[in-house]
Amino acid sequence: MIEAFIFDLDGVITDTAYYHYLAWKKLGEKIGIEIDEEFNESLKGISRIESLERMLKFGDKENQFTQEERIQLATEKNEHYKELIKRITPKDILPGIIDLLEEAKNNKIKIGLASASKNAIPVLNSLGVIGYFDFIADASECKNSKPAPDIFLMAAKGLNVNPKYCIGFEDASAGVDAINSARMYSIGIGDRDTLCKAKFVVKSTEELDFNLIISKYNKSEK
Ligand code: G6P
Ligand code: MG
Repeated sequence: MIEAFIFDLDGVITDTAYYHYLAWKKLGEKIGIEIDEEFNESLKGISRIESLERMLKFGDKENQFTQEERIQLATEKNEHYKELIKRITPKDILPGIIDLLEEAKNNKIKIGLASASKNAIPVLNSLGVIGYFDFIADASECKNSKPAPDIFLMAAKGLNVNPKYCIGFEDASAGVDAINSARMYSIGIGDRDTLCKAKFVVKSTEELDFNLIISKYNKSEK
């Protein structure tokens, strides 16, 4: 019997994944690293500082900045990102998400958030959906980032549910790995090849049909 839905935020509840991309791209321009959407795919679900490290490596600049400078660069990216997310309103909730949250509530399924973002709470507030969440895992308390299962396990613990009876929703390959390692049922949202390790993949949030999800989960091996 399903007990909880645990959501990633960026790219699942709202399209902030694109704002993260814009902010990294702008920082990249400043330090001479050109990134594209394909490279950005590998940053999805990855913490801020680790994303920077990956970007420096991608641009062959991993030996160029001191630790202090790296923190400064990550902060700069975040300042720009915070500017971008100021424009978020409830209209930015991805299609199908509210219906899914409503169905979960009506069926007494708990709702949790497992995002690596330290900006998750302001984003949920701007979207006007924070009230749906029974527990929001705190990314700043999470030692091992996705693909480690930690943030999903933290959410399950906060919700007081067994991971076996949870469904995790993700748009990133690292996030799907995290759900699988947490031994939850994984639903990937996006490209079938990128998310091939998910137990069930939909192209977009519009296709997140509550009854279909439950029947897929019920048919899966526990
Ligand atoms: C999510 C996003 C990543 C982002 C990370 C940290 O996992 O998918 O792209 O780097 O959160 O977000 P933050 O808002 O804390 O920089
Ligand atoms: Mg995401």
